[in-house]
Amino acid sequence: MRFYLSLTLPLFLFLTPLHSLDSETNSPTYKFTIVSGAPTTLNASDVLEVASFEECTEKCQKDQQCIMAYQANSSDPCYLFAWNSIQEVARNESGGVGTVAFKPISPNDTMNYLWKIDTSEDGWKITYIEKREEENLICGNFSFNRPYPDGCNPECMKTMVQLNGEPGPLSNNPRTSPASTWMECVNQCHENFNCFVTYFRDGVENCTWYPIDDVVFINRTEASAGKHIALKLPLSNRSCKLTTDELLNDQYYLASGNFLYAYEMSFIRVRTTPKYYKINYYLNEVPQLTRTIPGCEVNTVGSQVYENGKNDPNPIVCLRLENAPGITYAAAKEICHEWDGKLMTQRHAGFLQICSAKLDYAAMPWTWWTRYSKWGFPDWMTKDVKFWMGLEKDNGTGQWHWLAPEWAITNNYKITACKDNTNLGTVDFYTNKMEMTWAPGQPVNKPGLDCAYTIHKAGASFPGFGHYSSTCDAEQADGFLCGTPRQQDKGVMKWEDLMKEYQG
Ligand SMILES: *[C@@H]1O[C@H](CO)[C@@H](O)[C@H](O)[C@H]1NC(C)=O
Ligand SMILES: *[C@@H]1O[C@H](CO)[C@@H](O)[C@H](O)[C@H]1NC(C)=O
Ligand SMILES: *[C@@H]1O[C@H](CO)[C@@H](O)[C@H](O)[C@H]1NC(C)=O
Ligand SMILES: *[C@@H]1O[C@H](CO)[C@@H](O)[C@H](O)[C@H]1NC(C)=O
Ligand SMILES: *[C@@H]1O[C@H](CO)[C@@H](O)[C@H](O)[C@H]1NC(C)=O
Ligand SMILES: *[C@@H]1O[C@H](CO)[C@@H](O)[C@H](O)[C@H]1NC(C)=O
Ligand SMILES: *[C@@H]1O[C@H](CO)[C@@H](O)[C@H](O)[C@H]1NC(C)=O
Ligand SMILES: *[C@@H]1O[C@H](CO)[C@@H](O)[C@H](O)[C@H]1NC(C)=O
Ligand SMILES: *[C@@H]1O[C@H](CO)[C@@H](O)[C@H](O)[C@H]1NC(C)=O
Repeated sequence: MRFYLSLTLPLFLFLTPLHSLDSETNSPTYKFTIVSGAPTTLNASDVLEVASFEECTEKCQKDQQCIMAYQANSSDPCYLFAWNSIQEVARNESGGVGTVAFKPISPNDTMNYLWKIDTSEDGWKITYIEKREEENLICGNFSFNRPYPDGCNPECMKTMVQLNGEPGPLSNNPRTSPASTWMECVNQCHENFNCFVTYFRDGVENCTWYPIDDVVFINRTEASAGKHIALKLPLSNRSCKLTTDELLNDQYYLASGNFLYAYEMSFIRVRTTPKYYKINYYLNEVPQLTRTIPGCEVNTVGSQVYENGKNDPNPIVCLRLENAPGITYAAAKEICHEWDGKLMTQRHAGFLQICSAKLDYAAMPWTWWTRYSKWGFPDWMTKDVKFWMGLEKDNGTGQWHWLAPEWAITNNYKITACKDNTNLGTVDFYTNKMEMTWAPGQPVNKPGLDCAYTIHKAGASFPGFGHYSSTCDAEQADGFLCGTPRQQDKGVMKWEDLMKEYQG
C-alpha cells in the first residue's frame, strides 16, 4: 500500500532517513515520498521510457546515483536525477505539473553522499551534503553544478563538462567504444588522452567520441532527447572556479600537452549560441612558427600574395574547403558564418587553378598535407568538384556580388597560375578587377536563381572553373569554401595572454 506523505515542515532527510509507517504492520518502511510538482530544469537528468510511474521510481531505486524521479504525465518519459543535479522542485500550485518522487536515504547507505529536502514557498529545495567528501567525491564526480569544492585541486583541472547535445555540422571521424552508462563514457573519455568530446544516447550502449580537431559544432538538445555530451576542458586556476554556463560562454583553454596530437602552442575556445556549443581550435599567432601563414586557425590554410619574402598589402584570408555532400547554399552560408567566416570570394581569375608548388600563393587549397588532411577534395585533379563560394544576387538591385568583396585582389598584382592540373605551363596575368568567372551561358537570370555554385573541372585548362546560378535552398553541392580573417584580425585571444593564465 502506498503511503503519501505531505511535506509541510522542513524535513531533514539525512538526519532521520525518511521513513513512513506501514499502515498495516506499523513498522518503518523505506519508501519514496511522492509529491505533485516538477523540477525547475530537466538539464541534467537521465531520460527513460517507462510503462508507469511505479517503474520510474523502481529505476531510481536501483540506480545508486539517483535521488529523485519525475514524470509529467503517463505519456511523458521518466526523468532520473543524480546526486547534485537538481536544486529545486516547483509545487503544483506554483506551476509544477507532474509527479516527483524523492528517494529515501537508506540506513544501509554509506552516508557519503547525502541530501536534504526543505520545503519552500514554491515547492522544495534540495541541498547536497558531502560527508567524507575528500575520500569519495572525486572532482565533484564531474557533476552538473559547478564549481564544486574540489574543482580546483590539481588532479581535477582536466575536467569533463556535461551538456545536453549531439555532434553537429563538420563533425568528423567518430570513434565508438562500448559503455553501458553515460558515466562510463565520461570516465572513459577522461582517461583517454586522445578523447576531447564524448557522446552518449540513453538506450544505446555505445560512446561516440572525437579527438581534438574533429568537432566544431555541438547541437544543443533538450534534456528530454536523452542525448549527452561531455567536453574535456583543461582548466586554469581562474576557470576552475567558473559555473557550467560560464565555462561555455566564450572561454579559452590550453590544448597543447592536454590532448594526443594537439599542436604545440595550441588552444581552444568554447562559445554558446542558441543552436550550438561552438569550438574553435587555434595556434599561437606569432609569425615565427612553422605555419605557412601565421594566424590562421588550425585546419585552415592561408592565402596571400608575396614576393621575395615581402608581404604584399593585399588581404590575407584563411581558407577551409569543406567536404559536405548534399549541402545547400543557405546551409553552407550559415555554417561558415557561425564559424566566424564568410563564403569565399574569387580572389583573381585563376584562383582555383593552382600549381601544387604554390599552395600559399593567393590560391585555393584543395587539401592540406598534414595528418589533418581529412577535409577538402583529395581527388580534385581527377574528379570534378561542385561547391559553394559566396556569390549571390542582391535582392534589391538584382546585381550579383561577392559576400566578401574585400578579399578580392584588384591592385594590379602579378599572379602566376597553372594552365591546367599538369603543372606544366603557367599563365601570368595582372589582377586589376573584381572577377566573377561565369561558366559559358551563365548566369541564367531567372527568378529563384539567386545564388551560384562553382564547378572545378578536373584537368580543364585555365581558368579551369566556372560559376552557375542556382537556387539558394534546394540545389545541393559537394561542399563549400569558407574564408575567415586571421586570429589577430578578428580579436582572438593571444597565445601569450593565455599562457599568463596557465603558467602565471
Ligand atoms: C539549463 O536550463 C536553464 C533553464 O532551463 C537554461 O537557462 C540553461 O541555459 C541550461 N544550461 C545548460 C548548460 O543547458
Ligand atoms: C505530458 O507532458 C508533456 C511534457 O510536459 C506534454 O508535452 C504533453 O502534452 C503531456 N501530455 C498529456 C496527455 O497531457
Ligand atoms: C497540477 O496543476 C495543473 C494545473 O495547474 C493541473 O492540470 C494538474 O492536474 C495538477 N496536478 C498534477 C498532478 O499535476
Ligand atoms: C540493509 O542491509 C541488510 C543486510 O544486508 C538487509 O537485510 C536489509 O534489507 C537492508 N535494508 C535496506 C532498507 O536496504
Ligand atoms: C565519485 O567517483 C568516485 C571515484 O570514481 C567513486 O568512488 C564514487 O562512488 C563517486 N561518487 C558518486 C556520488 O558518484
Ligand atoms: C545540427 O543542427 C544543424 C542546424 O540546425 C542541422 O542541420 C543538423 O542536422 C543537426 N545535426 C544533427 C545530428 O541533428
Ligand atoms: C556499438 O558499436 C559497435 C562497433 O563499435 C557496433 O557493432 C554496435 O552495433 C554498436 N551498438 C549500438 C547499440 O549502436
Ligand atoms: C532573394 O529573395 C528570394 C525571395 O524572397 C529568396 O528566396 C532568396 O533566397 C533571396 N536571395 C538571397 C541571395 O538572399
Ligand atoms: C595554481 O594553483 C596551484 C595551487 O594553489 C599553485 O600551486 C599554482 O602555482 C597555481 N598556478 C598558477 C599559474 O598560478
